Formats: sequence, C-alpha cells, structure tokens
Amino acid sequence: MKEDRVLSPEEQGAEALLEIGLRPTQLRDYVGQAKVKENLCVFMEAARRRGEAIDHVLLYGPPGMGKTTLANIIAREMKVELRSTSGPAIEKTGDLAAILTNLEPRTVLFIDEIHRLHPALEEILYQAMEDFKLDLMIGQGVNARTVKLDLAPFTLVGASTRIGLLSAPLRGRFGIVHHLGFYGQENLTRIVKRSAGILSIPIDTEGAGEIARRSRGTPRVANRLLRRVRDFVEVEGKNGIHRSEAETYLGKLEVDKYGLDELDRRILQTIAVKFGGGPVGINTIAAAVGEDRGTIEEMYEPYLLQIGFLDRTPRGRCVTQRARDHLRLRPSSHHRPDSDQEHLF
Ligand SMILES: Nc1ncnc2c1ncn2[C@@H]1O[C@H](COP(=O)(O)OP(=O)(O)O)[C@@H](O)[C@H]1O
Ligand SMILES: [Mg+2]
Repeated sequence: MKEDRVLSPEEQGAEALLEIGLRPTQLRDYVGQAKVKENLCVFMEAARRRGEAIDHVLLYGPPGMGKTTLANIIAREMKVELRSTSGPAIEKTGDLAAILTNLEPRTVLFIDEIHRLHPALEEILYQAMEDFKLDLMIGQGVNARTVKLDLAPFTLVGASTRIGLLSAPLRGRFGIVHHLGFYGQENLTRIVKRSAGILSIPIDTEGAGEIARRSRGTPRVANRLLRRVRDFVEVEGKNGIHRSEAETYLGKLEVDKYGLDELDRRILQTIAVKFGGGPVGINTIAAAVGEDRGTIEEMYEPYLLQIGFLDRTPRGRCVTQRARDHLRLRPSSHHRPDSDQEHLF
C-alpha cells in the first residue's frame, strides 16, 4: 500500500531513472535552501583555491528534499569523481576498507542513510575521516595485529533522514552540517516550472502553484505530481497545465488541497476521535493506525507539524483546530472544544 502512495516522499519503483533528468547539476540550478548553498559555495571555492578536498559534509532532513542531488552537485562543482553507496549496503569491515582504500585524492564518497551503518564500521569510518588513515585488525587470537593504511584525502558526504540515530563521534567528524527542510510554496513552484520545461509540457504559474501547494513541501513529490498531471493532460489532449487542469487531475489522484493522503487523515482522525484530540503518545498512535512508529515519525508527522495540523507537547501529540476544520472533525464530547486547552488534560 505504502509503495503506491502518490504523495510518498520516498523514491518509488523506477522513479530514480525518471528523476535523473530533472536533477539540477549545478548549485545555481538548485532551488531554495539559500543558506546551504551560500555556505557550500564559500567552502567549495576555498577548497578549490587550496587544491584540497572540501571538508566532510552531513546533509539531513526528510526524504525527497535534495540530499542526493546536492551530493552530486558538490562532486561536479569540485570536478571530482563521486562514489555512491549507502549505510545498509556496507556489510563488513572489508567492504568499507575496500571502498576507502580505492578512493582517489579529493573524491566525494557519498554514503546515503549513513545512520544505518553498523556501529563497528562507524568507528572505522570516523577515524578515516579524521586523519585519512585506516587501522585494520587482521588475523585472530595470538596472530592478531593491526595494520595502518594511508588513505587519499577524500570528502565524505553523508545523508540521513534520522540524524538522531547517528553516533556523536561520527557526527562530530563532519565539518559542515546542514539541515534540508521543507520547501515553501514559491520555491516549489519554481521547481515545478523548471521540471515542466525539461519535460516540455506547457504550464502557467497558477498551474505550477497548484501542484506545488499539494506537494507536502517536498521536491520529489512535486515532480511526481507534475508527471502524473502531465499524463492526464497528454491523454486528454489538453494544451498544457493551467489551474483547472491541475485541480481536476490532482482531484482524480485524490490529492487534497493540503496534500494529505489517507494515512494522514487516519492519524488525525484517530487522535481527534479515539483519543479526544490528544495528547497521545506516538506508540499508541502507531498501534491504533496499524503503521510503524518510525514511518509515522519520519514521513507523516513532520509535515503535519509544519502545516499546523498537529502539535507536539511533552505529553504527546494533539490535533489542532485547523486540522479539525479541514477534516470537518467535531470535538469529542468529553473534552473542551478549544483545542488550545486540550493539552491540559
Ligand atoms: N533544491 C532543488 N531544486 C530542484 N530540484 C530539486 C531540489 N531538491 C530536490 N529536487 C528534485 O527532487 C528529486 C529528489 O531529490 P533527492 O536529491 O533524490 O532527494 P533526497 O536524496 O533528499 O531523498 C530530485 O530528482 C530533484 O529533481
Ligand atoms: Mg537520496
């Protein structure tokens, strides 16, 4: 069910291939995230002048925000090779050692989902990051000894959706740490327009704005909704995407005007109806809606907090009046109707 969500921020099926063409390859085409871009620009320029590798970069934030894209841009702008892997793909010490010892000077090593790297490997990695040396234990028992290998100075770009799961020493080895947060309406509209240009589908600002509004602040979702709307427009022989086409076809895809899907609604309804508006703990919500806690925390909650539909209090989550209005939920009988008062219960 999750795989089919049109609003999922995660890559789906063969989407990675479709995304490649839409991926900006230069920093100046990377929309929004002004602070990140500004800093990276300075660090890259300084490293270029000194002929050094840029300091290690950690990018974190929800899926679909442009972490992989940015890693690619860094390598490209530094005119160096990019090696990509991911935390779960590296299983053994030998795998990691092979990757590290094969790096050319200044190469960008991109490790996606770096929080899922095995703790024993984390330790090897942060030593390598620190002084470009690799301490390897070989042999066993009385024959065991360590060998020290020199590594080429490289740049590690780590990406994570769960920075809280990264160990403090590993995190501390990144000189540059950036959070990629939700995109605003204006930047998403720019992304949709840019992508429509690449896909050669005529679109006006209102049509792009309508797609942007329902994209959960996420470029990946914006591009996906654009591709789906384009399918309708082409099949139905329309000449482009204006507001009316965007509204009609997004409606057919059951994407509402806040970009909420069925599980978002179920979460809000559960808190509102079953738990009197909250506060209610995340584990209880997860059990009640039958979804994994991590998925709710990573993929649903941040956006619901962002649009002011959910409040997080020390005692749990509460639905807001805004959410009630949108979903036409009525306050439950045993709680006061004023949502601001509900945390007191
Ligand atoms: N700042 C941006 N400007 C333009 N397009 C973007 C931007 N960030 C992401 N995208 C688009 O969204 C898609 C998903 O981005 P990606 O880098 O794969 O996200 P993440 O790695 O954070 O999950 C990419 O194909 C890219 O086209
Ligand atoms: Mg990615």
